[in-house]
Amino acid sequence: MVLQKLLKARRIRQLGLTSGQIGIYNRYVREHEGWGRHLSKSRQAIIGAVELFKPKSICILGSGLLLDVPMKELLSRNINITLVDLLHPAQLVNKYSSNSFVRFETHDLTGGLIHYLQTTRLKALNFFALVNLVSRAKTYASNADLVVSLNLLSQLSDIPIEFLKQKKILTDWQCVELASTIQQKHLESLPKGKSLLVSDILEEFYDERGSITATRPTVFIDLSNLTQVQEWLWDFDTTKTYNEDAITKLRVVSGLVY
Ligand SMILES: C[S@@+](CC[C@H](N)C(=O)[O-])C[C@H]1O[C@@H](n2cnc3c(N)ncnc32)[C@H](O)[C@@H]1O
Repeated sequence: MVLQKLLKARRIRQLGLTSGQIGIYNRYVREHEGWGRHLSKSRQAIIGAVELFKPKSICILGSGLLLDVPMKELLSRNINITLVDLLHPAQLVNKYSSNSFVRFETHDLTGGLIHYLQTTRLKALNFFALVNLVSRAKTYASNADLVVSLNLLSQLSDIPIEFLKQKKILTDWQCVELASTIQQKHLESLPKGKSLLVSDILEEFYDERGSITATRPTVFIDLSNLTQVQEWLWDFDTTKTYNEDAITKLRVVSGLVY
């Protein structure tokens, strides 16, 4: 029992669940201008979907720090808001605790992979068990009038994959295969005809002269079924702290899921 608790505490650290959100906030402060444009486009995509669907309720998956959620606009329309994340910052929970239009729900949107990685010994982790677990997992189902997967899709696979890569449990092709399974499962969990997906899909690396030198996909599934697609470039890291060899921009898409 005590050993289980110790293992879980160590894995939470190793998976970077808390430090991930702190990292997001620090980069947001450092890269205010480039991030501001991306966050504003994400908020605009949500407002566009709200104007189209006129929902009475909305569910935001991957709400996190709410940097990309147009809370004021949603509340001014008296929309019931459900915020879903692995982790909700205490300040935000406090801020909205007396607002009956806002509800926080804590779920692992991979359907249990994070819990499994927190509680399973390294020796027992293998590719087939992990793919099986994700494929069979019961996914989160929202009955809100509008569901938004918000800058979450690449992150859903990134957190477990980075850990598994670091522990040398998966080969490169297995990482891509597991990431695709997680992402496909998430896409399929979004109710058709009332969901908006916003996600980065590609990392683009630039040199000082502004020439693109390399790319790396962050999403491995087919998104060609999205409609009303918008695309933009997110100035993610101008100071080479993410990739020390290059300036990093992310290609982002938003679209309705049909
Ligand atoms: C890049 S952030 C999205 C931006 C976020 N809306 C904000 O303003 O901070 C990704 C969010 O996904 C959450 N997340 C990552 N993996 C998750 C999982 N398995 N289940 C639920 N949430 C997850 C993280 O906690 C983080 O808050």
